[in-house]
Amino acid sequence: MSATDLAAIAQTMVARGRGVLAADESNATITKRFGALDIESTEENRRAYRDTLLSTPGIEEFISGVILYDETIRQSSADGTPFPKMLESKGILPGIKVDTGSKPLALDNDEQVTEGLDGLRERIEEYVSLGAKFAKWRAVIIIDEEKGFPSDYAIRCNAHALARYGALCQEGGLVPIIEPEVMMDGANDIDTCYDVTLKTQQRVFLELAAQRVDLRGMVLKPNMVISGKGSSTQASAQEVADRTLDLLYRTVPAAVPGIAFLSGGQSAEVATEHLDLMNKQGPHPWALTFSYGRALQDAALRTWKGSSENVAEAQKVASHRASLTSAAATGTYSRDMETAGV
Ligand code: 13P
Repeated sequence: MSATDLAAIAQTMVARGRGVLAADESNATITKRFGALDIESTEENRRAYRDTLLSTPGIEEFISGVILYDETIRQSSADGTPFPKMLESKGILPGIKVDTGSKPLALDNDEQVTEGLDGLRERIEEYVSLGAKFAKWRAVIIIDEEKGFPSDYAIRCNAHALARYGALCQEGGLVPIIEPEVMMDGANDIDTCYDVTLKTQQRVFLELAAQRVDLRGMVLKPNMVISGKGSSTQASAQEVADRTLDLLYRTVPAAVPGIAFLSGGQSAEVATEHLDLMNKQGPHPWALTFSYGRALQDAALRTWKGSSENVAEAQKVASHRASLTSAAATGTYSRDMETAGV
């Protein structure tokens, strides 16, 4: 695949008013999400849930791509159409999570590094044959001020792995989503989140350049700059939007076509409002959109509850949420839209 083709896919992923649905929870993670609602995590239930989301009528208006998990990319919709084919027929790009999760960093204390590079070239080849057009790799950067986290060592190792993955993806014909996630669940204030995110993204772009990744054929998936969940001082929505924008202008070259945020445990409403406030200050050099998991799925999962009788209602909820998030991607969202037309 040529650099022009990769750039075209990246542009499609972040096209105006559209964003990415992250439905790539590993079996361990989806089992946790199901467990909280007493839904049994069988292969068929996982398939039926993903089918509910992906076959939501009209979702393609808001969703440009869906990140799938290894199990899901091999599964099919109720009528037997493989999920990647079904997505493509709706004009949605199929994507695939290719990292194998984060593991303890050697000779460190409780920090993480993401694994999955060994054999990745061959796995990419297989995923391309299954219909994938883009991929995701998530690096986990933990803030713990008492322990001095993150260390430079952890930032460097994770940035290096992200860039190795990015280069392998582009070589094999997939657009890499580069996801350096600074976790939002610490006790730190917004200033610390800003400093750590700045350092992390600067290192990531240094590694991407060193490893020859073409910035025109990638999408950045960062955290927002936000107060830690455990902090006693919570920054306002406007401050989150302003600090996040300020940071992105310092770190992200204009060659990057788009930035698709993760929601990282923010409620759906809050994640939507933050994105909206950033886009209200646009236009920016890059598209600013979403690649939310929980913020797009939580309400739909609670409605579905593991029962085929709830599919239509869950799809209505999923569609409504996606439409509001899409509005935020164009800076046209307002809180009263939450209850309008429901
Ligand atoms: P959340 O939006 O739930 O953080 O998930 C996005 C994601 O894909 C994390 O890797």
